Amino acid sequence: MKKVRIALLGLGNVGIGVCIILYSNRKEIMKRSGYEVEIAKILVRDKNKDRDVYIPDGVLTTDFNDILNDDSIKVVVEVMGGIQPSKDYILKCMDKKKHIVTANKMLLATNGDELFQKAESNGVMLQYEASVAGGIPIINGIEESLTANKIKELYGIVNGTTNYILTKMQLDKMDFDTALKQAQEKGYAEADPTSDIEGFDAQYKLAILSSLAFGTKINIDNVYREGITKISSIDIKYAKKFNMVVKMLAIAKDHFGRLELRVHPTMIPNDHPLANVYDSFNAIFIKGNAVGDLMFYGRGAGSLPTGSAVVSDIIAILRKNVDSQSSLPALKNNLWDRKIDDIGKSKGKFYIRITVEDQSGALGKITTIFGKYSISIRSVIQKGEKNSKGGVNIVLITHNTCKEKIDCAVKEINNLESVIAINNIIRIEDFK
Ligand code: NAP
Ligand code: HSE
Repeated sequence: MKKVRIALLGLGNVGIGVCIILYSNRKEIMKRSGYEVEIAKILVRDKNKDRDVYIPDGVLTTDFNDILNDDSIKVVVEVMGGIQPSKDYILKCMDKKKHIVTANKMLLATNGDELFQKAESNGVMLQYEASVAGGIPIINGIEESLTANKIKELYGIVNGTTNYILTKMQLDKMDFDTALKQAQEKGYAEADPTSDIEGFDAQYKLAILSSLAFGTKINIDNVYREGITKISSIDIKYAKKFNMVVKMLAIAKDHFGRLELRVHPTMIPNDHPLANVYDSFNAIFIKGNAVGDLMFYGRGAGSLPTGSAVVSDIIAILRKNVDSQSSLPALKNNLWDRKIDDIGKSKGKFYIRITVEDQSGALGKITTIFGKYSISIRSVIQKGEKNSKGGVNIVLITHNTCKEKIDCAVKEINNLESVIAINNIIRIEDFK
């Protein structure tokens, strides 16, 4: 049996999962890859930290040069996270003809071009299945299995942490902070969970998926983003009254060559398959012009599910013959030059929750402003009892309209004397 020496940059949630899988599935990996995989070195910040995995003496190091300058190490797995020093380390390893596996969506979404070009010029592979939706083989799915299609629409629950929080708020009536704490303890959240709850992580993942699905370069700044921090249990209760649930969705639509890309909390009908994706599970629902509707489903975060994608990437490299300098084709994101639509032009239905003074005529004034902007209202709920702000709740659901009209109307409504607060505006997706 041939042997291959690999190194890890990082031994946190994902790194530990990778080690456990390499040890426990050793025989399967040997048969499938043709190699016995030896973890030669692991870069960490603190060698004395307690780790939930056995690591032989001499493997942990705090000196990156131990990995860079060891020519016997053929594959380097980056599971440290962040932009720097991860980017420099990957570029340096590629210059030394080491193949790379990474789970780092932030780095790929913001610096992917440079990394793929470097991989190509050095004839090394850059594998990144774990960067989107943890254990779900979505990168391979789009890159290999759906290439016969024009992908028209893509809807993803691509962040495990926010799906876990929304699930706990919906089903267990748990408060936001407790649910986030649990997601962190379970190893789903990013080192800085702002990335999860403010939607940055989903924004990176949508940029990666869209560049593959639509064969174009995506500038991350063109992907609209809203987080889930404004979602309250009240919104979740109202969603239920309208037979909907709140999910953090990453949405991409192809409008005859122009793209609409957005990440935000979304109300979706109870009977859509994405409505029943709970906890840290992720799912990506795709409409292809040949395949029709398709959904990928699985664990989107966590040590072993993510480790599964990373180890599969290692095996993919070994199967391509790790010793030859023949790279896989780089991210196919330069086939077309697509324009990204301004978010203001995007159309849909909206849920708007407003607190008003308990006085007659308040609702009339609000609907008059919507009428002025030609926004028609599908449903209204007005509660008689006072809420915690001393006012009453009015909840409206609009028919299809565009976001810029909603923004203008809401600005005017906010200036009405009878309006105490615009509590929340949530987009609705009915997949029609
Ligand atoms: P983590 O638990 O925070 O682990 C990070 C590891 O990297 C730690 O072992 C840390 O060393 C090491 N490290 C960080 N900066 C370093 C530096 N400058 N020099 C040396 N070592 C350094 O992170 P994670 O959750 O495993 O995530 C790793 C990557 O996978 C990120 O890009 C993340 O976005 C991605 N990802 C995570 C998941 C998930 O479910 N967690 C899923 C998919 C993708 P110490 O242990 O010594 O502190
Ligand atoms: N923090 C990420 C999530 C990890 O919660 O989905 C998986 O990419």
